[in-house]
Amino acid sequence: MEKPINFDELAASLGRAQEKQSEKEDLAYKNTLLVIDDDEAALNPLKRFLEKEGYEIFTAINGDNGLKIIENNKIDILITDIHIGDMNGIEILQKAKKYYKDIEGIVMTGQKDEALAIESLRAGAMEYLAKPINFDELLISLEKAVNNINLNRDRLYRNRELKISSEIIAKMNEELERRIDDRSRELSQTQAQLFQTSKLATLGEMSAGLAHEINQPLGGIALICANIKKSIERGKFSEKILIADIADIEKSIQRITRVIQHIRTFARQDTLKFIEVDIASTIDSALTLLGEQLRLHEIEVVCEFAKDIPKIMGEPFQLEQVWINLMSNGRDAMDEKANRIKDGRLPAEEYHKKFLIRAAYDQTANAVQVFFSDNGIGISDANKKKIFEPFFTTKEVGKGSGLGLSITYGIIESHKGAIEAQGKEGEGVTFIVTLPIGGKNDNGN
Ligand SMILES: Nc1ncnc2c1ncn2[C@@H]1O[C@H](COP(=O)(O)OP(=O)(O)OP(=O)(O)O)[C@@H](O)[C@H]1O
Ligand SMILES: [Mg+2]
Repeated sequence: MEKPINFDELAASLGRAQEKQSEKEDLAYKNTLLVIDDDEAALNPLKRFLEKEGYEIFTAINGDNGLKIIENNKIDILITDIHIGDMNGIEILQKAKKYYKDIEGIVMTGQKDEALAIESLRAGAMEYLAKPINFDELLISLEKAVNNINLNRDRLYRNRELKISSEIIAKMNEELERRIDDRSRELSQTQAQLFQTSKLATLGEMSAGLAHEINQPLGGIALICANIKKSIERGKFSEKILIADIADIEKSIQRITRVIQHIRTFARQDTLKFIEVDIASTIDSALTLLGEQLRLHEIEVVCEFAKDIPKIMGEPFQLEQVWINLMSNGRDAMDEKANRIKDGRLPAEEYHKKFLIRAAYDQTANAVQVFFSDNGIGISDANKKKIFEPFFTTKEVGKGSGLGLSITYGIIESHKGAIEAQGKEGEGVTFIVTLPIGGKNDNGN
């Protein structure tokens, strides 16, 4: 079981440290002021007054000292005279803003400094106050400055929250992507296993046909051996006979080798190889493997393959598996019909099981179409909607797993083709498989 994503935990691990830090800052907070004025007589009473108002005050009597203080302390508000010996107040403010862009500036000006005062506003001062300073006016300005500072801090705080949230979202996305990757990997593994399982099941289906395919040449070899023995006993054995017999034995051995080779390749768990495929020959191979079984079930097979069918891009063994699945389904449907006639569930009739397999090239669709028709029990309209679902089966327990058609569907889909079932219930089914010419799978294989 995977641990569910715990939002709180994630948020906490990302944000807790930062939150703590800011809480601490909040508690200890007292706004800091720096007053720069070269007129020490004016500076001291101002300092005392502001300290009483609850501010933490730094003072400097020239620009250099003032900037050093700003460099080493976090100053919220700078109050500076416009004329300082070494530097002008505007310059000081501009330099201070380089250290800390949110510092609030109040410039103290003389009566005749209107132009400079305006310039200081342009340089980012919040306010200018004419000297001598009216303390009430100053308090109002400071309140405004503190408000600005608080707004800025709020903004910073919210930005930080936003940053934390987006980090959380990014982490969650990562986690979700990882889980999707895991699931997709699991799914493709399961699918691969399913293909393999169904291939083995198909091999089971084919065993009767295989036995026949191998038995026939073996019977031939046994016959040749018996004949050789007889000729020797009768003294009629010659080198010429021997050479002809060996050639026949070799042919039979080749036939057996081919069958075994085929099973080996079919059963191997291989990655898919899309190559140029002749559809008719994949149907022929399927018939070689299942044909004997169909004969044993007294099913007539009629094939009608058009001559001009172009090759398609496909995986021959997978396509073979499709035909085998369709053939074994048809076989079961026709057996079922025969049984129902036999035990009286269906009215008596002369019933002759028949498979018709047609293949042709459809020029408009630029695709090969294969029609697989049986005359078995057919499928009800309701069931037609479900037959391609995995594990849907109407067969008794132990007989059908309900996987044949869902695997078939998957194979056809990977060939970018289509499959559908037609036909009335009771009259048999025609499966129409459409495979586009040059249809490749998504992997480009
Ligand atoms: N030719 C057909 N005629 C009638 N019914 C069919 C035919 N082909 C498929 N069906 C119906 O579709 C169902 C699903 O077929 P599918 O091949 O997926 O599974 P299955 O044959 O029941 O089991 P499995 O193929 O795994 O052994 C079948 O149980 C049957 O009801
Ligand atoms: Mg089946």
